[in-house]
Amino acid sequence: MVRLFVAIDLPEPVRARLAALAGGIPGARWVSADNIHLTLRFIGEVDEGKFEDIAEALESIEAPGFEVVLEGIGHFGPPRAARSVHVGVARNPALSHLRDKIESALVRAGLEPEGRKFSPHVTLARLHNAPGSRITAFVAGNNLIREGPIPVAGFTLYSSFLGRSGAIHIPERFYPLKSRAPAAGRGGEGDEGD
Ligand code: 2AM
Repeated sequence: MVRLFVAIDLPEPVRARLAALAGGIPGARWVSADNIHLTLRFIGEVDEGKFEDIAEALESIEAPGFEVVLEGIGHFGPPRAARSVHVGVARNPALSHLRDKIESALVRAGLEPEGRKFSPHVTLARLHNAPGSRITAFVAGNNLIREGPIPVAGFTLYSSFLGRSGAIHIPERFYPLKSRAPAAGRGGEGDEGD
């Protein structure tokens, strides 16, 4: 069995800056710069056969490249009982569209539909009994964060293992999106109309 998820990779300098926000919340398990990503779909444990079906189904996705902007700090769960803190993702129809295409491909590959609403985010830390006041202070202190626009040229199917010092994510397949070449190929030369 292998544990899978689909994510958008972020450039190293962005990951480094996000990892540098770590601190100030007792008991938080901060995600290392290497592991920071934007999850599009958590798949969970599947067997080898299903893994191949999933990898192949994702090949069929055709979508244009786009950009994402990361901004603000959020948390899942109320401050007193927050499970994680994250950087938010600015509203992005292209991202939602890609996520919908991935969902369709995965359901065609035989997975159960994802029941939860897609709430794009980039997890910074997982929490356990963290004091609410520290979470509120972390949000207030870092909420002006803004990264991007970050170009998204593709998405990655990852496997994930629990290593001795936490999760290890291994890129299994990269799926490029269509490059956003300007109007070329859409019509005649110099055709700028719609
Ligand atoms: P997260 O960013 O919201 O924490 C790899 O573990 C990725 O899959 C993580 O980014 C994590 O999302 C997500 N993930 C892990 N376990 C999950 C679960 N049980 N349900 C939904 N998403 C999960």
